Amino acid sequence: MSVTPSSQMSVPFFRPFLTEAEIAEVVACLRSGWLTTGPRTRQFEEQFAQQVGGRHAVALNSCTAALALALEALNLGPGQAVLVPTMTFAATAEVIFHLGAVPLLVDCDPVTLNMDLQDAQKKIEQLRSGQTPLNPSLRVAGIIPVHVGGLMIDMDEVQTFAKRNNLWYIEDAAHCFPAAYRGDAGQPWRRCGESTSMITCFSFYANKTITTGEGGIAVSNDKELIDHMRQMSLHGLSHNLWSRNAGDYELDYRIVAPGYKCNLTDVASAIGIHQLARAEQMRGEREAIAQIYLEQLADVEQIELPPAPLNRIHSWHLFPIRLRAGKHSIDRNTLLRQLLENGVGCSVHWRPLHLHPYYENTCHWKPEHLPVASSVWQRLISLPIFPGMQKDEQEFVINTLRNLCAN
Ligand SMILES: Cc1ncc(COP(=O)(O)O)c(C=O)c1O
Repeated sequence: MSVTPSSQMSVPFFRPFLTEAEIAEVVACLRSGWLTTGPRTRQFEEQFAQQVGGRHAVALNSCTAALALALEALNLGPGQAVLVPTMTFAATAEVIFHLGAVPLLVDCDPVTLNMDLQDAQKKIEQLRSGQTPLNPSLRVAGIIPVHVGGLMIDMDEVQTFAKRNNLWYIEDAAHCFPAAYRGDAGQPWRRCGESTSMITCFSFYANKTITTGEGGIAVSNDKELIDHMRQMSLHGLSHNLWSRNAGDYELDYRIVAPGYKCNLTDVASAIGIHQLARAEQMRGEREAIAQIYLEQLADVEQIELPPAPLNRIHSWHLFPIRLRAGKHSIDRNTLLRQLLENGVGCSVHWRPLHLHPYYENTCHWKPEHLPVASSVWQRLISLPIFPGMQKDEQEFVINTLRNLCAN
């Protein structure tokens, strides 16, 4: 069904917000003759760590690489399992398999879509008593919560949970910069990355809240962990090229471990430095867009809107609406298709991991093991939200959605 003439405007799901500052810095980097990891990456790492309130950071070519190196640094290996939400992107869990370990999938909270810690406790007990499809002899070593869409899970609760179960805990904060949480009004804010876990991993993929095209960073207060990850990001070499070139070390290097290759280039960091400088401003724009959606879609009875709790500074990477169960005559895929056909770029975050063939076939997860995610994902649609989105673009999204819901 078309509710608008086909010649009318279309709004992308996301449009990167780049300025002349990023372009000039990339040009300066190209002219400098130093393209790979070097001074701009060091600057970006230092400024990013400072902005989130962490002590040490290593910039990498993706958040996936940050998660993989974090797990390697924590000695994850065969015979171990890691608690991860089923409501996440492929990256959070695939890196666990790469080290010979297994993800122990956890259901989501029905309101926030973040990991449900009560279910996490249940899954540990069910694993031990042979009530999950996984091998009961696996030892649960750690937990990786994901801050879905940029709405933080309470990391104090994660820490308590991890301590009670003797687990390490790291964060998949791919969506979550800048963001913060606090227990109650009056308590101090804690920024995501400000000692919120042992290692916090952020993404700078093209559509994230700040971008370097492709990129990621790991932040930690533990210097040894970050130094180890930095070394593993460059083949496990004792000295990297920039430090050797800068004359900090002897020119020779030694291979001290079979590392990976996932450092961030200075060309990418040149973009990141200026994105970082505008991060708060861009978050403000996202929040203003979210507020307008929340106000202007509040009376559309066929949809439910995402929560915006007062004890969170939300990065608003995503604005996930959901169809209200039983109230709408069309299903999610039909509405999604109609939105796309009418020029509204939208997406679904996500088909939960346990409903993908690899997880069904190798781990034998069934929908009833993770009932909340199995049901809620069928009603989710993420609307466009990005800094630089024009007023008439947002009006167009709202009007198109309202019209489709009314029909
Ligand atoms: C929750 C989550 N974790 C990790 C990633 C991976 O990030 P990257 O593309 O930087 O590796 C993504 C990417 O979209 C994501 O959504």
